[in-house]
Amino acid sequence: MRSRFAIFPSLLLALVATAAHAAAVLPAPPPELARWYKPQNERQVWLHNMFQLRRTLQAVEMYLDAGDRQRALAWAERFREHYGAVAEMVPAWSEEIDGEAVERLVAALGPAGTGSAGHELRRIRLTCKSCHGDYRAVVAALYRAPDYGSITVAGEGEEASQTLAEAMESLSHEVNGVLIALQDERPAAAAGHAAALERGLERIRPSCASCHRDAPPVERILGAATEEALRMLREAIAAGDQRAAGRQVAEVAVTVCARCHGVHRTLGDLRRVIDAALE
Ligand code: HEC
Ligand code: HEC
Ligand code: HEC
Repeated sequence: MRSRFAIFPSLLLALVATAAHAAAVLPAPPPELARWYKPQNERQVWLHNMFQLRRTLQAVEMYLDAGDRQRALAWAERFREHYGAVAEMVPAWSEEIDGEAVERLVAALGPAGTGSAGHELRRIRLTCKSCHGDYRAVVAALYRAPDYGSITVAGEGEEASQTLAEAMESLSHEVNGVLIALQDERPAAAAGHAAALERGLERIRPSCASCHRDAPPVERILGAATEEALRMLREAIAAGDQRAAGRQVAEVAVTVCARCHGVHRTLGDLRRVIDAALE
């Protein structure tokens, strides 16, 4: 097996965390991998082949343990096909797989039964682990992390539409507007910002459907619990209860803003950093 840095030294991508003065170096996946992912392909072909690898390998091990060598052999042959597809799809990764170990595995399970199937399975497992250690996170970030570049939301007032990033600036403006007004005991201004915050969240709701076809993710972030928190915020402001209003703003900031950012913004930022480093 080649050393991790031997083949594509020029493609190494450096993610430099300047603040910490630390640099983490990750190897870049071969560019031809893009052909096996959306948008170049209609399906996430590479990932689906990986699921096949896991399933077929599990079946081999299961039947081997159960002493059913005939079924183990049939699954080993299926596994060989999917394992070989790794090198066919991405020739630059031919050396990441151990083709000879699979041949020996099939031979060990065949009628002649030469060699140790268990030994070959362990060798094959090492190739999974090695490639995953180098590439799995980067590939998932590059090809499967969400991309918000083309998402637009309805604008407020005159503005016809906004990018998601612009909509986020407005949300942030309204959240802080409420907090500033509360601190200065200006309830009417606080109520105005809280109402604008509610409208802002309604304006981003349709954008969720660009990626989520099912209702539960939207319900989780913008559903009944959020409506309730916003209602309590409105009431606390109206009642002049500054402390309770502050608590409700914090509630929304955590259960709406931070929860959504944890999945979406972190992945989107990673994708952008890695894309930029690869250019
Ligand atoms: C979809 C779930 C989602 C929700 C809900 C959400 N955000 Fe965001 N937010 C994002 C994403 C995605 C980005 C990154 C946008 C991009 O990279 O283009 C972002 C970025 C931001 C930014 C940085 C904008 C920039 O210039 O890049 C701020 C500030 C922000 N959000 C504030 C908020 C506040 C405040 C709330 C709650 C009231 C909120 N967001 C709710 C997804 C969300
Ligand atoms: C040449 C590199 C390479 C080899 C060898 C490899 N993988 Fe992968 N595997 C990947 C990459 C890259 C990903 C990330 C794909 C993604 O997230 O879209 C991945 C992801 C996976 C996943 C999906 C993980 C998840 O739960 O989301 C499974 C399952 C998997 N591999 C199984 C295997 C098995 C089993 C083997 C060994 C028989 C193996 N892989 C060998 C590169 C490889
Ligand atoms: C550009 C694509 C994109 C947009 C737009 C988007 N999401 Fe997501 N979201 C994802 C991806 C990718 C994941 C992680 C994998 C998954 O769950 O599909 C995710 C995960 C989630 C999760 C966590 C998983 C779950 O099902 O509980 C929630 C909640 C969620 N999104 C809510 C929202 C809401 C609410 C909006 C709109 C305000 C939104 N998303 C907009 C791509 C997007």
